[in-house]
Amino acid sequence: VWSAVPAGPPDPILGVTEAFKADKDPRKINLGVGAYRDENGKPYVLNAVKKAEEILVQQNPDKEYLPITGLPEFTKEAAKLAYGADSAPLKNNAIAVTQSISGTGALRIGGAFLGRFYPHSKTIYLPTPSWGNHTPVFRDSGLEVKNYRYFDKKTVGLDFEGLKEDLKNMPEQSIVLLHACAHNPTGVDPTPEQWKEISDIVKEKKLFPFFDMAYQGFASGSTTRDAFAVRHFVSEGHQVALAQSFAKNMGLYGERVGLFSLVTADPEERARVESQLKIVIRPMYSNPPLHGARIAATILSNQDLYGLWESEVKHMAGRIIDMRHRLHDNLVSLNTPGDWKHITRQIGMFSFTGLTTPQTKALAEKAHIYMTADGRISMAGLNTSNIDYFSESVSKAVKG
Ligand code: LMR
Repeated sequence: VWSAVPAGPPDPILGVTEAFKADKDPRKINLGVGAYRDENGKPYVLNAVKKAEEILVQQNPDKEYLPITGLPEFTKEAAKLAYGADSAPLKNNAIAVTQSISGTGALRIGGAFLGRFYPHSKTIYLPTPSWGNHTPVFRDSGLEVKNYRYFDKKTVGLDFEGLKEDLKNMPEQSIVLLHACAHNPTGVDPTPEQWKEISDIVKEKKLFPFFDMAYQGFASGSTTRDAFAVRHFVSEGHQVALAQSFAKNMGLYGERVGLFSLVTADPEERARVESQLKIVIRPMYSNPPLHGARIAATILSNQDLYGLWESEVKHMAGRIIDMRHRLHDNLVSLNTPGDWKHITRQIGMFSFTGLTTPQTKALAEKAHIYMTADGRISMAGLNTSNIDYFSESVSKAVKG
């Protein structure tokens, strides 16, 4: 029956992990997927998460189905984390929310909802480059995917003029996807002043802003500072859509905890939108998983755990910044051709190194170092034990 099914290519990001697992060399390093690793290169379960789980065990909760839109204690707290406790639409009960299967699920629900109900356009514009999964998520949601300029290869920074020009040239009321902070894969974000200009253009062109916030806390170490763009847009009256993930900032990767939300005009409109979100979700996966949402809700609603969590986010972001400095200094002292300042300038979990696809291939084959073909590395995969080996290998690859 399936003789005509062609073999598909490996996933550009998750496929890297498969290649890494198959490699038996003890020096191997996986810098592919964006997943935090501790100083010893091991996955890190946050203490706030462990403590929340202890509380949950004591509560001995049941395993009944959640409502279609998820755990209300979680959705309420997660929206507060993104929009801020004093957000006007939040206080006004005008934000439609639903728990999601992490950030990807939130994007997919958003794509499906916009595909069905956004009356003005079926086109979503993504930055070039964007997270590898954005295009398939939105294409499979039934939207047409186009791009706008974002990254300037020459400066290894933001192409702000190109970005503005492309926003201005989009058909009015198009959907535009914005990375709220810690842009993936480049680690290059607009400044607050630039965000204000972007907001003005989005307003002028009546574009529909869809924020992807997968790294709240990872850009600056502060969840409040990282929410600047979303909160600014909302305070300017934009009715944003927002996808949130708790994979990175709570380390809840496999628990799949996320939120999709939409700012609406008033509580009555919110109720109508939520009723349709349920109709979008029910045939996809019925209702979301329980455990991770309980963990996140416990952390977000308990002052002590919240404080502990914030300090752990700061620690993770800080360790990554240390590694950026180590990598930069090593590459310079090894006389590696090129300017490596972008490594310390970029923020978040990733560095867009500027390594070419052939160089990334050579690193995998000769040095057992794995990264995505676009030269993105997950900084969190580096630690004091492997940073020197990594720097030397990169230096060799660049020198050819
Ligand atoms: C990444 O970009 O590495 C992460 O967002 C994980 C993923 O699912 O791709």
